[in-house]
Amino acid sequence: MTSSDSKSDTTATAQIGVTGLAVMGSNIARNFAHHGYTVAVHNRTTAKIDALLEAHGSEGNFVRGNTIPEFLATLEKPRRVLIMVKAGDPTDAVINELADAMEEGDIIIDGGNSLFTDTIRREKAIRERGLHYVGAGISGGEEGALNGPSIMPGGPKESYESLGPLLEEISAHVDGVPCCTHIGPDGSGHFVKMVHNGIEYSDMQLIGEAYQLLRDGLGKSAPEIADVFRDWNEGDLDSYLIEITAEVLKQTDAKTGKPLVDVILDEAEQKGTGRWTVKSALDLGIPVTGIAEAVFARALSGSVTQRKATVGLASGDLGGKPTDADRFVDDVSKALYASKIVAYAQGFNQIQAGSKEYDWGITPGDMATIWRGGCIIRAKFLNRIKEAFDDEPELATLLVAPYFREAIEAAIDSWRRVVITATQLGIPVPGFSSALSYYDALRTERLPAALTQGLRDFFGAHTYGRIDADPAARFHTLWSADRTEVEI
Ligand code: 6PG
Repeated sequence: MTSSDSKSDTTATAQIGVTGLAVMGSNIARNFAHHGYTVAVHNRTTAKIDALLEAHGSEGNFVRGNTIPEFLATLEKPRRVLIMVKAGDPTDAVINELADAMEEGDIIIDGGNSLFTDTIRREKAIRERGLHYVGAGISGGEEGALNGPSIMPGGPKESYESLGPLLEEISAHVDGVPCCTHIGPDGSGHFVKMVHNGIEYSDMQLIGEAYQLLRDGLGKSAPEIADVFRDWNEGDLDSYLIEITAEVLKQTDAKTGKPLVDVILDEAEQKGTGRWTVKSALDLGIPVTGIAEAVFARALSGSVTQRKATVGLASGDLGGKPTDADRFVDDVSKALYASKIVAYAQGFNQIQAGSKEYDWGITPGDMATIWRGGCIIRAKFLNRIKEAFDDEPELATLLVAPYFREAIEAAIDSWRRVVITATQLGIPVPGFSSALSYYDALRTERLPAALTQGLRDFFGAHTYGRIDADPAARFHTLWSADRTEVEI
């Protein structure tokens, strides 16, 4: 049934149902329909169903459900229902309503940006009711939802057998390989989507720093910087975010005739997935410094009171602008690439740690495969990440994989020059500099953590290990007595 004025058709059998018909939900419903599936569509406010069928009903087979029972009656069993509503309370409300009316073996899929711990809780509750619950990360924005997103479904393996082929079909494909795979049990899909978003924050922060270095360091205009990004997109940095940076920087504001970017308020907002990534990394003990700097940089941009109060504070003597502009542009591109490698290395470490902590059995290389297309962080170099994990599934860090090791070797001098120049010019580069510090810290043989341990032992008898003893052995110096050492 395709007509917009049809009320319902309980005789039709739909292979998939979508509830929540804002832009993402509508587009994903259309994507299923474009692939020949009959799609049941439902929305709390039926006007949204009308709008979808009015505008796009002729694109494929849709069947409307004005109420949840009506919607469920049109679905083939086991029923597969994709929820595309705002994460949080609305999701719980829809899940409960669906679960009350569903039957054993039916599958509820949450395609929103839900917090992975919510997904763990919901999966358990739904499993106990004899139903299947799949928390699926979906990336790619409105355009991706319509033409092929990257999909990260978690949940029971057996539900993937029934659901996977549909999701794989509507996902983006790269070299014939779908950008969708079963991630692991319960909250694993939303966990990797969360880390994806954290990396997205980091990528965008690094791009912002590169833009500011070219703007304030070289005095380039937004359209000139757009051309630089367009060039960069032809090389190692080839990625969706670099591509659309050129588009945004090229855009002229119709009202003022200025570059649009020059009239947009410089206060970055966030819905929370970057912050969740950092909170989870803190719990797991994984230093995702690039992502953390990106989240804090957004918070700093929005610290309007502090920013107003500090305008005009001393800068000290600022160095001169780079004299060789071409060399500086090349240095910035290399610093951007090296910092980006660090951000991905940290994100993949978080995925490995999360998988271990929650016993998910995630294959990190699979994430690189399904992020090659459809998602916001899609980039040419994800092929290299995939190769690195194919060669060494237990890779300690991407930084030691031969390709990345060489890429950083080729970039390191430029990276240092950029951080030095930025510091001399007073241009903030928290992403570039923290990534470089992370790299330097990892490769440093002796860190000052030995002194930290000594101080902890001094004031709190917290003990320390010794370089010449079993790492598990603990020692304490009798600081307030004769300062001899005892083994604990
Ligand atoms: C994606 C995006 C998408 C959304 C972010 C934006 O993968 O398609 O990440 O999920 O654009 O949630 O997040 P912020 O509003 O926090 O920047």
